[in-house]
Order: sequence, then structure tokens, then C-alpha cells
Amino acid sequence: MKLHYSIASPYVRKVMAVAIETGLRARLELLERKMSPVNPSAELNRDNPLGKIPCLVTDDGLVLYDSRVICEYLDGLHDGPKMFPAAGPARWAALRRQAEGDGILDAGVGTRYETFLRPEERRWPEWVQGQKAKIARALDALDGEAASFGETVDIGTITIGCALGYLDFRYAADDWRRGRPKLAAWHDTFAKRPAMAETAPAEIW
Ligand code: BEZ
Repeated sequence: MKLHYSIASPYVRKVMAVAIETGLRARLELLERKMSPVNPSAELNRDNPLGKIPCLVTDDGLVLYDSRVICEYLDGLHDGPKMFPAAGPARWAALRRQAEGDGILDAGVGTRYETFLRPEERRWPEWVQGQKAKIARALDALDGEAASFGETVDIGTITIGCALGYLDFRYAADDWRRGRPKLAAWHDTFAKRPAMAETAPAEIW
């Protein structure tokens, strides 16, 4: 399988972490993409008209995106512990946690584009403030939930781990751990899993 990939993308990180947790990493051939919303990749656009990573091309030639779809596809290819629990309360908890993590990422990545890519004179500080407020509220909610995560490893906790890792990568000065000791303690342990440690983001430009 071929994966359009960037080490800086937290959405790609979700896919890589699921691939490692499920023993599928060796089956992924990585296609390195150095693109951004203002610097598209023609090769990527041919497979994903939205021009977004991750994008998976399966061995059967099926093209899949976004990270949620790819992660669920990979989860169907192995016989180990499932990253997407079967129907029932555990599934809803995992999907809701995935949505929380993805929501933090959407706000964090959008803010990164606004504050880094957009020319300074066209920036919108109130919008950035609103996105950061979303992130802060979600982090407060997650601090309240962290005790219930236990040892759970599924698409929910992986996505939350990727979201917190992205905040460390791009917003270290905001110090998300301050005032959120339960979430910080959970992340300290979770981040040591090989699937998280081996997929830590790095600068590509
Ligand atoms: C980043 O560099 O922050 C980034 C890269 C790819 C996707 C999203 C964010």
C-alpha cells in the first residue's frame, strides 16, 4: 500500500500510529509530500482531489482519505486488538474521543496556517483567539476524562495523543499541561508507546 505522507502532519501520524499498533507498518510504502495549501503537490492531487494528506492507495488500487477512513480500513486488515471497537459503548467512546482529538487538530492546524502561512497584513487575530479558546475548552474536558482512559489503546486515545503531540510541536509556549495534571500524566505514559515515540513530528521546511 502507498501512503502520501509527511512527518509533520498529525493526521498522517494517526495513520502511522495505527499501522504500528496493528502490525501493518511494513506494508506501507511512504510517498513523501512537501506540500501546503499554497504549495500543492500534483502527484497528491491526482490521487486526492482535495490535495490533503494522508491519502492511501491500497494494493487493489482503492484510494482512501481522510485519516479516519484510512485508520478504519487498516483496522480491517489484521486480527489483533481492534483500534475501532465493535458496536456498543466502547465504540462510541472511541469515536467521540477521536472527534475531540481531530477537533483540536483542526483548530491547531488552521491556526498554524493563519499565523505562519498567511501574510501578516491579512491575519485575523479574533479568529485565532476563537480557535485557541476551542482548544483550551477541549483540553479542559479531556483533563476531566483522562482518568477514564486507563490503558485504552484505540482510535480515540491515539488521536488524542497525536493532538497533544501537535500542541507540543507547534504551540509549546502555550504549555497545555498547565492546570491539566491528569491529562499530562496520561500523555507522559502514552507518548512512550512505540507507536507514538516512533512517529513524533519533525520540521520539513
Ligand atoms: C505542520 O507543519 O504544522 C503541518 C504539516 C502538515 C499538515 C498539518 C500541519
